[in-house]
Amino acid sequence: MEKTFKSKLPGVGTSIFAVMSGLARREGAVNLSQGFPDFPIDPALIDLVYAYMKKGYNQYAPMPGVPQLRQAIARKIRRLYHTAVSPDDEITVTAGATQALFNTITALVHPGDEVIVFEPAYDSYVPAILLNGGRPVYVRLTKPDFRIRWDEVAEKISAQTRMIILNTPNNPGGYVLSDEDWQQLARLVRGKDIIILSDEVYEHIIFDGLSHQSILRYPELYARGVAVFSFGKTFHATGWKTGYTVAPPRLTEEIRKVHQFNVFAVNTPVQYALAEYLENPARYEGLPAFYQAKRDYFINGLKGSRWKVMPTRGTYFIGLDYSDISPLGDMDFAVKLTRDYKVASIPFSAFYHDGYDQHILRFCFAKQEETLDKALQILAKL
Ligand SMILES: Cc1ncc(COP(=O)(O)O)c(C=O)c1O
Repeated sequence: MEKTFKSKLPGVGTSIFAVMSGLARREGAVNLSQGFPDFPIDPALIDLVYAYMKKGYNQYAPMPGVPQLRQAIARKIRRLYHTAVSPDDEITVTAGATQALFNTITALVHPGDEVIVFEPAYDSYVPAILLNGGRPVYVRLTKPDFRIRWDEVAEKISAQTRMIILNTPNNPGGYVLSDEDWQQLARLVRGKDIIILSDEVYEHIIFDGLSHQSILRYPELYARGVAVFSFGKTFHATGWKTGYTVAPPRLTEEIRKVHQFNVFAVNTPVQYALAEYLENPARYEGLPAFYQAKRDYFINGLKGSRWKVMPTRGTYFIGLDYSDISPLGDMDFAVKLTRDYKVASIPFSAFYHDGYDQHILRFCFAKQEETLDKALQILAKL
């Protein structure tokens, strides 16, 4: 056994999010590392889940998701992105966006396929590509605005390119794709056999009057696209691990083949509750203002300090450049900040496969003012 056992992911250790959250706990630090809110979710949503549990909705849900939830999602998509998608053939409810991403990559990436990944990148993309025998091809985006230079992308596209993974609003870069970005992408992939995987979990966390440019707004791209969403992010309930994919029928068919042998179906009462909860658009329409106020509160608290604030147009993360504070590498500085000053963050280098270090730490501002105040009192003095 020992001789034949070979890791499928030899380069992968415990995720940086678990490492930094663990360190934060041990050190009693304010935890602005992992991306989750520290305020309660809407009690009305909890009441709905409880009501559906009591009514007996406790057995397996249909494999692609509860029909009422898929219908509610389709209505929301029509309202927001002016696109008609079929609840029966195009929407699949998943165990969070993470499973949606895994399903999609597993269903569509074959051994030897190349997948273009923009870095900084969310950490689940590359392991999923590798497990399926794919080859990540990296495009490096850099501070301060992490803008995509499409001519660089053009150079990376080859006959083996099977997929391009995009994430808008972007974690941790804070950038938001514009209409022009999507047009450029459309020009690059036209006539080529390339699938676009669009991670849009922060669709409602977008600032400065911008509107989210979903791939679902672009019929030409959606015809070869998969969009991924997360109720965990939208309704402050990351622990519920509920999300979904939206993809044209021929892609959805393949995604569901993986989904049914991966989790089969997502927990039932939460799906019924979300279906009912989604009927009121006010439940997500106020999110940009809610989170923008938090972003601005955090930035204001750092005014006059030596931190350089990276522009954040979306997501509940912000990058802070500490090069005027310390010469340390970002991993060492993140550990020092947690141990010695009791504020936990995530080093940006963790989002690059080669550990590219720009002396930036990522902070999550999806926190109560009290938590942000505690962190700001420390950070502003450094
Ligand atoms: C860009 C991005 N995609 C996907 C996810 C995963 O979402 P979920 O918690 O719904 O699995 C996250 C979570 O942090 C994320 O930041």
